[in-house]
Amino acid sequence: MMLSEILLNMKMVLFGGKGGVGKTTCASSSAIWAAEHGRNTLIISTDPAHSLGDSLGVSLPPGIPTPIPEITNLTALEINPQVDIVDFEGFTNINPIEDMGFSNLPFMENLADLSSLNPPGIDETLALLKVLEFIETEHDYDLIIFDTAPTGHTLRFLSLPQTLSGWIGKLLKMKMKLGNMFGAIKSIFGGESKKEDKSFEILERLNEAIQRAKEDLTDPLKTSFVVVMIAEEMALLETERLIIELENYHIPNSNIIINQLYEDNMELCEFCKSRRRMQQKNLINIKEHFIKKWNKLLIEIPLFPDEIREYIPLHRLSNYLLKE
Ligand SMILES: Nc1ncnc2c1ncn2[C@@H]1O[C@H](COP(=O)(O)OP(=O)(O)OP(=O)(O)O)[C@@H](O)[C@H]1O
Ligand SMILES: [Mg+2]
Repeated sequence: MMLSEILLNMKMVLFGGKGGVGKTTCASSSAIWAAEHGRNTLIISTDPAHSLGDSLGVSLPPGIPTPIPEITNLTALEINPQVDIVDFEGFTNINPIEDMGFSNLPFMENLADLSSLNPPGIDETLALLKVLEFIETEHDYDLIIFDTAPTGHTLRFLSLPQTLSGWIGKLLKMKMKLGNMFGAIKSIFGGESKKEDKSFEILERLNEAIQRAKEDLTDPLKTSFVVVMIAEEMALLETERLIIELENYHIPNSNIIINQLYEDNMELCEFCKSRRRMQQKNLINIKEHFIKKWNKLLIEIPLFPDEIREYIPLHRLSNYLLKE
């Protein structure tokens, strides 16, 4: 599916790849194009080192969706990496014993290790929750574009629903077991359930949100992951690993942007000619690999003479990204 069809039809489009290859730039440019083609678009940066605001030339207060001046239909959001833990009260430091009102029983100290259960990767988890909150609650956006962090971080992020739902599943099972066990003990010792069991309700809701997000993320009619790379051998290797991981998580991906290519030009200096030769050699391998082996569509983008920032250059880039 062409990038234009993706931007006009999908619900979520993620831009990802190695560090510094042009993910933010391509995501911003695509978001402008989609907004100008009538889609109410939200672009979200999930990279803790945000540069989305810098790219669009707008200051974005952390965690607050901000309409982009002069561009109708475009809103941008940088996820606040310092998510306030109190936003998720009941989710962190879940204590199954205390929550069921048994902490006053004498032998409970032996089970103290249960009281410090925290989900794996708490910071990323909280950031993911913020994202889930956005995509899984009612909103007016037709399209959500994600400007993601470099590969490693993004892959951890994408694997979180899997990790988390396993973790939540275990907790919920443990709760059932403890519940049965303590039901019997309670009738002997008369322990009192003084607190409502709220954290498990939150966990169950969270589990549902994660399942829905997982379904959306793997639905080829709703989601596409656009890979951005440069024409270097190292980028080829990392991009292939990224694609293998995307396939493992069943995240649809069909387009690869090869960015920053030196164009053929009589006036190129020796240095640039050498860079171009290197790129053209790698481009042959890249085509061989990603078109023949992986059946992907490649979009070739030239290296611009100037920095691509703010409306006019970003708009100009979209002519290349979306050309037939
Ligand atoms: N085709 C291009 N021609 C010229 N400059 C480009 C091109 N693509 C991107 N750039 C420039 O390269 C720099 C890095 O781009 P960008 O921030 O989009 O990369 P990124 O992959 O998002 O980086 P990070 O991994 O740090 O998030 C920016 O200054 C951008 O303007
Ligand atoms: Mg970036």
